[in-house]
Amino acid sequence: MITVSIVGATGYTGHDLVKILSGHPSVKIVDLSAKLEVPVMIEDEYPDLAGSISMVCGHPDTGRVIEKSDIAFLALPHTVSMKYAPELLDGGVKVIDLSADFRLESPRLFKEWYGEDHTKPELIDSAVYGMPELNRERIAKSSLVANPGCYPTAAILALAPLMGEGLVDETRIIIDAKSGVTGAGKKASLELLFAECNESVRSYKVGSHQHTPEIDQELGRLAGREIGVIFTPTLVPVNRGILCSCYLKLVKDIPGEDVLAIYRRFYSGAPFVRVLKRGEWPDTKYVTNTNYCDIGIGVLKDKKELVVVSAIDNLVKGAAGQAVQNMNIMCGCDEKEGLV
Ligand SMILES: NC(=O)c1ccc[n+]([C@@H]2O[C@H](COP(=O)([O-])OP(=O)(O)OC[C@H]3O[C@@H](n4cnc5c(N)ncnc54)[C@H](OP(=O)(O)O)[C@@H]3O)[C@@H](O)[C@H]2O)c1
Repeated sequence: MITVSIVGATGYTGHDLVKILSGHPSVKIVDLSAKLEVPVMIEDEYPDLAGSISMVCGHPDTGRVIEKSDIAFLALPHTVSMKYAPELLDGGVKVIDLSADFRLESPRLFKEWYGEDHTKPELIDSAVYGMPELNRERIAKSSLVANPGCYPTAAILALAPLMGEGLVDETRIIIDAKSGVTGAGKKASLELLFAECNESVRSYKVGSHQHTPEIDQELGRLAGREIGVIFTPTLVPVNRGILCSCYLKLVKDIPGEDVLAIYRRFYSGAPFVRVLKRGEWPDTKYVTNTNYCDIGIGVLKDKKELVVVSAIDNLVKGAAGQAVQNMNIMCGCDEKEGLV
């Protein structure tokens, strides 16, 4: 059995990690923790977990995690994970970090977009960007996986097959992504109150969302050139789900069927990416509570434009599910084990 600990178990992604891992046939959860001063039973915090797990969740104790675990999931706010990861790695525990702390290659960019100095820049080089569809072999050998952000997962999966193919104008990529409210985590804030979000759709951080450099970095790596996307995030009044619409200028005439064939080839070994038939478009309800990413593609021939739409569950493929997929790869399990 793979022994796992979850730090940040009381948060939204922590909840989904506990839920998925408590049903994983090759996993034993050995430790749960969060910021809490007073320990709680996890099934009291999240009654839907009752019957699947009964375990105390207390304040993090890295010594205890090192003693008991093969893998530690850090479902923590950015800048907090980098406080825990070094000691866990030194203690021989493999770390899958759901925060942004090890995603950006440049500590300068981290400071620019996350507002704080990176305190462990020496660890960044050893971290592998945890998107199995792009980095499966490197993830298998890694001790530190930087699990991708939710918007970047949806955007990069939608665009990766096109990068470096000479099909689209890579200097003009428009990403219009809508997310459910759990994307912001469990913390209380005025703009996330029911009355503020319900029956309302609003864009925010246009051109300044912290996931922009992550998308640029990973698409740029695939394209072999600098990429600077135009990214508009929008909050929609649902709990879960991201629908990501991408608009690209085609630089040559290509039928929709040929673009579909490129996507099918690119994702032929990817069990959680479903490329939809021509004329079909993703719907978040078909990926909710699953680790799937659905992708629809359309060529607007007269306008020489390509539209690619992806849908994921932000807490599953966009966070906890992808993290478990990475764990499966790191531990030599079937990539789909424990996941739907
Ligand atoms: N939400 C998403 O859709 C999503 C998707 C992809 C990635 N992510 C990333 O995943 C991470 C977790 O996100 P989330 O949405 O689950 O956040 P969340 O709901 O706000 O949960 C954060 C968790 O971290 C714990 N925590 C906070 N500060 C801590 C500290 N100093 N020491 C120990 N535990 C601490 C909290 O404990 P308490 O409950 O005791 O405060 C809570 O369990 C974030 O970095 C986020 O950006 C989120």
